[in-house]
Amino acid sequence: MVVKKPRIVIIGAGMAGLTAANKLYKTIGAKGGIELCVIEGGNRIGGRINTSEFGGDRVEMGATWIHGIGGSPVHKIAQEINSMESDEPWECMDGFLDDPITIAENGYVLNPSLVDPVSILFKNLMDFAQGKIKSIGNGNGNENEYRSVGSFLKKGLEDYWGMESRKERNEVIENGNWNRKLLEEAIFAMHENTQRTYTSANDLFNLDYNAESEYVMCPGEEITIAKGYSSIIGSLASILPSGVIQLGKKVCKIEWHPNPETESHDGTRPVKLHFLDGTTLSADHVIVTVSLGVLKAGIRDSNDSGMLKFNPPLPDHKIEAISRLGYGVVNKLFMQLSQESACFNPFPFLQLVFHQGDSEVKNPKIPWWIRRTASVSPIYRKSRVLLSWFAGEEALELETLTDEMILEQVSTTLSTFLSNSADFHEQRNGNVVKNSSKLNLVKVSKSKWGSDPLFLGSYSYVAVGSSGCDIDKLAEPLTTSGSNPLQILFAGEATHRTHYSTTHGAYFSGIREANRLLEHYQCMD
Ligand SMILES: Cc1cc2nc3c(=O)[nH]c(=O)nc-3n(C[C@H](O)[C@H](O)[C@H](O)COP(=O)(O)OP(=O)(O)OC[C@H]3O[C@@H](n4cnc5c(N)ncnc54)[C@H](O)[C@@H]3O)c2cc1C
Ligand SMILES: *[C@@H]1O[C@H](CO)[C@@H](O)[C@H](O)[C@H]1NC(C)=O
Ligand SMILES: *[C@@H]1O[C@H](CO)[C@@H](O)[C@H](O)[C@H]1NC(C)=O
Repeated sequence: MVVKKPRIVIIGAGMAGLTAANKLYKTIGAKGGIELCVIEGGNRIGGRINTSEFGGDRVEMGATWIHGIGGSPVHKIAQEINSMESDEPWECMDGFLDDPITIAENGYVLNPSLVDPVSILFKNLMDFAQGKIKSIGNGNGNENEYRSVGSFLKKGLEDYWGMESRKERNEVIENGNWNRKLLEEAIFAMHENTQRTYTSANDLFNLDYNAESEYVMCPGEEITIAKGYSSIIGSLASILPSGVIQLGKKVCKIEWHPNPETESHDGTRPVKLHFLDGTTLSADHVIVTVSLGVLKAGIRDSNDSGMLKFNPPLPDHKIEAISRLGYGVVNKLFMQLSQESACFNPFPFLQLVFHQGDSEVKNPKIPWWIRRTASVSPIYRKSRVLLSWFAGEEALELETLTDEMILEQVSTTLSTFLSNSADFHEQRNGNVVKNSSKLNLVKVSKSKWGSDPLFLGSYSYVAVGSSGCDIDKLAEPLTTSGSNPLQILFAGEATHRTHYSTTHGAYFSGIREANRLLEHYQCMD
């Protein structure tokens, strides 16, 4: 009998899947030691990396930043393939380094002396929660007493108010029905909303407090990739012979064999993949890299045949980890300004401060889904393309709106913010107001990560009620006894205990599962 080469099938051609494929191919695939296959449900590679074009500029619909270049494998590849430079404009976000201009609802430009103390408070609280600093000097010391990041932040703001002089707090700020306390609360909320986009948690009261300090940030600068994030994906895929990656093949069922009694002994491969188009593929090992959202949907709706199912179903500990961990939606909205409506020249990094609570002074023209947007900024200095990030319910709502509705509602909102043109004349940074009466947007483009059935969200977080242990449980291969171990392995962003939610986390997870198989075949290089 001819001994068959082991067949390894990777589900998903995103960062984790292509990293695993690249590693396996380089180590044993190129020598013909295995059969390798990458199965992708969509019609492109890259997954949550999706470099695109808008208004003539290169933009990222998904992953955007290298979160710390120190030790980042993504940065290493980008340098090797010369992706950090480009002659064409890209989303380099250099304006991030400028001082932001902060405007409160109804067009009141806030003096930095009002904004900065709250921004510093917020930064110190997050640094403390993340274990970067040991004390914040207000008795907010016992880290175990908090369940969520939301409750920790709430207490932090209350303690801050407790220290401030009461007289100042109720000081009325004439313009726009604000007083000092309401403004501080709203500025704090703006930073919380930025934190929502960083974590994808709709509600910071659902973001686990203890996990925050377990998360590891890479050191060094945070930068974007000039030639686009997709160039990294292209580089990983480039060594694979044509035919290895198969696009448009959506897996709907994974059949596996936990016990030797159920296995056939005629030498057939133990795992069988069923595709939506009715075809099947057998494998010795399958690395599943689909998003946590796709895994959640698979265990939730047992009747939806389009969703990824396991047969037999996943063991309970796996199902519990999948259901407990958090997975949220974050979307990006790009907006192009008309040539005439350069109300700022150039457009600054603008921070938006909205009235909180049920205040009657809320401007009724501003729709709820814009009220938690923290900022609007050009994608590079002097660009006419502006960018805002959305999280949670607002991000999902954005996906349902037509471009016309978004254009109309964003223009209206920004115009109300820019309505008190008199305020802008004394602005810093040499930003001159030309005409703030109406801001004109000509077109918009948005990502749609929440409703796309291949993602069903953006990235994972540790929700209240789960912990880093759940991430480790998710990462474990399924236990199989008998002659065919390691039938099903798991990689992907959500399986990395300290770098989840990032591209480098996905990368490390792909290397981890490739190495698991290489060790199994004793082919470590
Ligand atoms: C808006 C946004 C902004 C982000 N910003 C950053 C950032 O600035 N920096 C950063 O480091 N990270 C960022 N991320 C996160 C980063 O993009 C992800 O962590 C990473 O790309 C995930 O890679 P992955 O391989 O784990 O998963 P994916 O990229 O999701 O790959 C899984 C693949 O599986 C495919 N698939 C799904 N179901 C099936 C099926 N049934 N059959 C076949 N194929 C299937 C999918 O199409 C997909 O291609 C961002 C993500 C989003 C959405
Ligand atoms: C400002 O724009 C409005 C309409 O967009 C226009 O009517 C007005 O003349 C402009 N004012 C200046 C000073 O350019
Ligand atoms: C990926 O980018 C394309 C535009 O280039 C866009 O049409 C598509 O919706 C994006 N995918 C998601 C999930 O946002």
